[in-house]
Amino acid sequence: MVKLIGRNKTNIAVFISGVGSNLKSIANHFDKDKNINISLVISNNSKAPGLLYAKKYKIKKKVVNYRIKSNAEKIILKTLKNNKIDLICLAGFMKILSKNFIKKFKKPILNIHPSLLPKFKGLNTHKRVLKAKEKFSGCTVHIVTPSLDSGKIISQKKIKINKNDNFFTLQKRILKFEHALYPKTIKKFVANL
Ligand code: GRF
Repeated sequence: MVKLIGRNKTNIAVFISGVGSNLKSIANHFDKDKNINISLVISNNSKAPGLLYAKKYKIKKKVVNYRIKSNAEKIILKTLKNNKIDLICLAGFMKILSKNFIKKFKKPILNIHPSLLPKFKGLNTHKRVLKAKEKFSGCTVHIVTPSLDSGKIISQKKIKINKNDNFFTLQKRILKFEHALYPKTIKKFVANL
């Protein structure tokens, strides 16, 4: 268990840019948790459908304009500090956090990526996996470092690719496993902080 002086819950900020289905599963999973509080949602996109989950689960939200990245990161760092955030979970956040941001935040940052890292880092994962005729794919939760999708792997779920899988079926099937893997990994990770 995490022992935090003066309070007993670990505050988590979830960063999103789009649909937010991982945010939904995380918020739902920890809604009544004794040790974990999903206390902030950050988005670079004011139109992200996922922001609706912040409303649904009564989580504070902050939309940050990313036109000037260094300014955006300054605002985010201040918001994280004001909300006493202990852990960031990236969930479909389409901006790369700078080395300076990661250094200044000082606390851990997790990300979920829809491939079996270290294979298929970066964007358009499922398309590249199918094109490469891989037999397996999956999803990975890893520590965020300045090098894209390259930090320490914390957990992974491997699935078999079906002969008739296409982009949509593969994305859908893997997302379902992401929704189970991410909360489970967060729980374990926080317990070991
Ligand atoms: C997920 O596939 C996640 O692995 C990747 O971006 C997608 C986000 O989906 N990083 P959602 O917004 O959580 O539905």
